[in-house]
Amino acid sequence: VSSPDIIQAVRWSDDGRGVRIVDQRALPDRYAERDLRSADAVCDAIATLAVRGAPAIGIAGAMGLVVAAGEAGGRSRPEFDAALAALAARIRRTRPTAVNLSWAIDRLLAAAAAVVGAPAVVLDAMRAEADAILEEDRAMCRRIGECGLPLVHDGARVLTHCNAGALATGGMGTALAPVYLAAREGRRVSVWADETRPLLQGSRLTAWELARAGIPVTVLADNMAASLMRAGEVDLVLVGADRIAANGDVANKIGTYGLAVLARHHGIPFYVAAPSSTFDPATPDGDAIAIEQRDPDEVRNAFGRRTAPADVPAHNPAFDVTPAALVTAIVSDRALHHPPYDFGRRPRGEGRRPNP
Ligand code: MRU
Repeated sequence: VSSPDIIQAVRWSDDGRGVRIVDQRALPDRYAERDLRSADAVCDAIATLAVRGAPAIGIAGAMGLVVAAGEAGGRSRPEFDAALAALAARIRRTRPTAVNLSWAIDRLLAAAAAVVGAPAVVLDAMRAEADAILEEDRAMCRRIGECGLPLVHDGARVLTHCNAGALATGGMGTALAPVYLAAREGRRVSVWADETRPLLQGSRLTAWELARAGIPVTVLADNMAASLMRAGEVDLVLVGADRIAANGDVANKIGTYGLAVLARHHGIPFYVAAPSSTFDPATPDGDAIAIEQRDPDEVRNAFGRRTAPADVPAHNPAFDVTPAALVTAIVSDRALHHPPYDFGRRPRGEGRRPNP
């Protein structure tokens, strides 16, 4: 990797009173950072995918809750607690599928509840917890990279979907972490980046961050993966996750399931990489995962133009579920997990867990 600095998708603003994000809506045309300084700004940024990717929205949600609750910092403790609960519920609702968001909000609420005293003291504790979530995510990304490194041999041609890189996390990404580490070790690795309709996270974001890091990347429209596999051009599929159920079923960007089916048909290994914060022991299987449904106009008005008649309904689930049976192995920050999966307990990453 020629660029040693991994992009920092979420951090505090310079004055510490806002959340600074890379505005991912502007990429790849323009690199822009924005400071989120209110509950409205935080919720809007998460809902519109200015900040996106399961770990990154957990971090942004946690930091955003600190910023939003700060507005109620001058109130009495009971009033502050009521405002905090309402803000937490509001941020949590912005995107339902990635468990990282709820998980991070729960951690902040637990940190707040553990403090006796005035709102200012509570806010300090919440800020420290948000810092811990960011730091832990950075460390977990690195360890996912290490656990997944043996999968990316010299010369490996990796197909990925959506963006599970640095832009989606607090560190070097999840699915892309083993790719970054393999490149750093001098292995020749190249990436096929699925375009990822309708919002193009693969062609806009994965291609942007890999090209920036000097890793060979080629974009393809989603419907091209099958023939590429048949032609023997793909050695492994490596994707991220938004929620992994106790039985190993994986929710990830819409289209992931199709790739898993294709990979199985062609005898290509299909790997999922995710930090501990993405495992949800409370969800027994994929059927119990809420799938976010987004505005049909994302499908009808793609690429800045009308791509379907305005009055024709459009189907637009943001995620799908890949059955555990199609997943060759899951790379967590702890280990390479092989089937049969049993994540009834969250793999232990860093720090405290609300659901140990
Ligand atoms: O809708 P998005 O762009 O937030 O979807 C993101 C994904 O599906 C990623 O693959 C997943 O969050 C893992 S990110 C490390």
